[in-house]
Amino acid sequence: MNNWYRRTLVGLGILFVTFFCISIALIKPKYKYQFNPQPSELTYNLSNGERVFNASGCGSCHLDPNGSTPSLILAGGHALKTDFGTFYSPNISPHKIYGIGSWTLKNFSDAVRNGISPNKNHYFPSFPYNSYQGMSDEDLVDLYQFLMSLSPSEKRNKPHDLHFPFVLRELVGFWKHLYFYSVQNDYSKEPEGKYLVEALGHCAECHTPRTILGGLNNKRSLAGAKPIKNEGAAPNITPHKTGIGNWTIDDIINYLDTGFTPDFDSAGGHMVAVITNLSKLPKKDLVEIAKYIKSIKPVASN
Ligand code: HEC
Ligand code: HEC
Repeated sequence: MNNWYRRTLVGLGILFVTFFCISIALIKPKYKYQFNPQPSELTYNLSNGERVFNASGCGSCHLDPNGSTPSLILAGGHALKTDFGTFYSPNISPHKIYGIGSWTLKNFSDAVRNGISPNKNHYFPSFPYNSYQGMSDEDLVDLYQFLMSLSPSEKRNKPHDLHFPFVLRELVGFWKHLYFYSVQNDYSKEPEGKYLVEALGHCAECHTPRTILGGLNNKRSLAGAKPIKNEGAAPNITPHKTGIGNWTIDDIINYLDTGFTPDFDSAGGHMVAVITNLSKLPKKDLVEIAKYIKSIKPVASN
C-alpha cells in the first residue's frame, strides 16, 4: 500500500468517525428546559389547570374519540394523518400502567416542554411540544394536577403507522436542531395574548405553512397553510386584507367563542374542536388572543 493510499484511508476514517460522533451528538436528547421546582412553588390551582388544558387543546387529540361519557377521559387513540404516516395519540389519563399516572412532574415537564419521554426518547413533533415549550412553570404544574384529577382509562396505546425512515425517533434529534432549540420559550415579559396564541394555543401549528422537513416557515407566520391530508386548509389569520384584516376584535372574539364568522358562516374542519375548547375560556383570554392576532405582522396570502 503506498503512502498516499494509506493517508487517504486514514483521512476517510477520521472523517467517518467525526461524522458519526457529530450525528450521535445531534440525535442525543438535549434538555433545553430544566425543571427544578422548590417545594414551596408547588401549590396548585385546579381551575387554572383546566383553563390551560382548554387553551392548549390537549383534549382535541387525547380525548377518547369513541368516548361518550360527559367526564373527560384522556384515553387517546385519535388518528392524526400526516405526510409522514399516521400517528395515534397515546393514553394520557392518570392510569398507572396504561396512562401517565406514575409520572413525576419532571417527567411531565420533559414531555410537554422538551419533547422527551421518561425513557429518554424523542417524541415526534405531531405532539405540539414545539409550541408548548413556552408553557410557564405555574401553568405546567396546574395542568399536571388537573390531568391527575381526571378518571383513569385502561385503553392500550396503538402503535403509530409511519413511513420509513420517519419511524426512527432518533431523526427527531436532527429536526430539533433545525426547528426546536431556536424557538422562544420565555413568555414572562410578553403580552398574555402572545403567550396564549404561540405557546398554549399553538395556532401556528395549523395556520403557518411548513417547510418540506415539517418545520414552521416563520417568515409566513399565521399566513395560512395547506390542508393536512384531506382536511380543510387553515386560512390566513394575519391582519392583511387577504387575511382577516377586515375583522374587528369583537368579530374575532365572537368567532373563537361561537364559531360564527362576521358573514355568519360557521367554522368547519379542525377549527371546530379548537373553538369547542376556546369557548370554555374566560372571556378575558379571548380578548387577549383577539388583540394579539390584530397586532401581528400582516402577510399576504399566496
Ligand atoms: C395535535 C395533537 C396533539 C395535541 C393537541 C396534544 N398532543 Fe399529546 N401527543 C400527541 C401525539 C401524537 C403523541 C405521541 C408522540 C410520540 O409518540 O412521539 C403525544 C404524546 C403525549 C404524551 C406522552 C405520552 C406517553 O405515553 O409517552 C403526553 C404526556 C402528552 N402527549 C400530553 C399532552 C398534553 C398535556 C397536551 C396539551 C397541553 C397535549 N398532549 C396535546 C398528540 C397531541
Ligand atoms: C388543529 C388546527 C388548528 C389550530 C390549532 C387552530 N386553527 Fe384556526 N382554523 C383551522 C382551520 C382548518 C380553519 C378553517 C375553518 C373553516 O374552514 O371553516 C381555521 C379558521 C380560523 C379562523 C377563521 C378565519 C377565516 O378567514 O374564516 C380564525 C380567526 C382562526 N382559525 C383563529 C385561530 C386561533 C387564534 C388559533 C389559536 C388559538 C387557531 N385558529 C388554532 C385550524 C386550526
